Amino acid sequence: MGTTWRVRHLAAVLAALTISCAGSPGSGEAPGGEFRFPADFLWGVAASAYQTEGDSPGNDYDRWLRNGHGQWRNGKADNSYELFDLDSELARAAGANSFRMGIEWARVEPARDVFDESEIAHYRAVLESIRQRGMKPFVTLHHFTNPLWVADQGRWLNPGIVREFADYAGRMASALGDLADEWITINEPVIYATGAYWAKTYPGGDLLDMTKANRALVNMIYAHAAAYDAIRAADTRDADGDGRACRVAFVHALSPHYPADPQSPDDVRAAARFDQYYNRQIFDALVYGRLDPWLEPEGGAGGSAASPGPHPELAGRVDYVGINYYSPRYIRSFPGLLHPLEALPCFSFVEPLCFSGGRPDVVRGDNGNEVHPEGLFELIEDYASYGLPLIVTENGIAATEGRKRSWFIVKHLEQVERALRQGYRVEGYLHWSLLDNFEWLDGYSMRFGLYTVDFETFERTPTEAVQAYREIIRAGGPTPEILARYTWP
Ligand code: FCB
Repeated sequence: MGTTWRVRHLAAVLAALTISCAGSPGSGEAPGGEFRFPADFLWGVAASAYQTEGDSPGNDYDRWLRNGHGQWRNGKADNSYELFDLDSELARAAGANSFRMGIEWARVEPARDVFDESEIAHYRAVLESIRQRGMKPFVTLHHFTNPLWVADQGRWLNPGIVREFADYAGRMASALGDLADEWITINEPVIYATGAYWAKTYPGGDLLDMTKANRALVNMIYAHAAAYDAIRAADTRDADGDGRACRVAFVHALSPHYPADPQSPDDVRAAARFDQYYNRQIFDALVYGRLDPWLEPEGGAGGSAASPGPHPELAGRVDYVGINYYSPRYIRSFPGLLHPLEALPCFSFVEPLCFSGGRPDVVRGDNGNEVHPEGLFELIEDYASYGLPLIVTENGIAATEGRKRSWFIVKHLEQVERALRQGYRVEGYLHWSLLDNFEWLDGYSMRFGLYTVDFETFERTPTEAVQAYREIIRAGGPTPEILARYTWP
């Protein structure tokens, strides 16, 4: 992609926006009594490596698609591997002061212990491009894809992955620690483990095998803890001058779990079981060093890396609660069902079994996800109990209408404001996503971007939500005027 094209294209995009890279807003009460987000609040965007870079023949998801699984071919996705500088500019133009990017493990470590210096140099350039725009980078090390050498030796079922992942993490922290302080080890471990071995939605997976899901999950928990220690040892440089050399967290798909029928004690208990399994157990492990029985080697399914608890080697290994929030889950109890939790979330074909007549009055994304902004406040309130700061590391909607996305952002930030007003330590909001991108099982059909992308030409075009996000950031929060302007439907 020629430089001239990029510059011309960028000029066109920027001209479409009212640009003024104003400094951070003040905090607390503005003149006139309006609330303002803290001056150092992280307003950002989130993306992952494979979903934006595409083509990566060294990773297992790419091989899986090439071998005819899934309905899609990824190709170059957004071609962000080449256009990363443009992406940084677009994030800045949206008003962001932080950018969650990802490193493709398969590119930087194509064989065990063989690191590709040119790929490391590539990611240095990406980080520099983000920093040059005055944005703070968040680096994700694992976002659903594995190098082929990891895949071919059993992926996350092989306990060797704990050391291998930690070595990779430590190597990245030492190679890039002068440019980045915010490290995200693993994106959505519980979604990956259950998706792979319960729903068979990732390469090498199985159907309905909770034993394997639990084994993968315990290895992910141990890999995170080992990577936490490795990153802290390797990144001793304060890249952004905030007095802290690094912070390390995993980011977690969190949903409030509601009983499908609040009057049914079975549904209430089932929702609590789901909440413990999908939401809480990983924090209990990595904050308190407590593994739930199904993860303990002698407690059922058994983790291959674990020894019987308590687990001081896991405790205190997360620096903030990273919340990826999209929608709530309604849970219906189905006693005797194959699922070990004896219940199902009320998605798609299960929904009619849960609610007679469906839930017609709710707003949904194009993928059917129910929009429920209050859920974000509930999660913040709930997860503050771990005593850590919180960052919304993903939140977004698949929508072709820019107005719907603007409304979605405004309404979720209204809930963040509600939490801040009540004193909760929410430090940032990273919107998923900067660009429409390759959406795992949905290919290119689901559009999550602030900028919409033509996947033939890679042209990026701002949706209305770029303007809305900028306005919120400049105002220091979703003012009543902004809330009144961006309504849906
Ligand atoms: C999250 C994933 C992210 C993207 C969004 C829509 O669960 O982390 O990669 O697919 O959903």
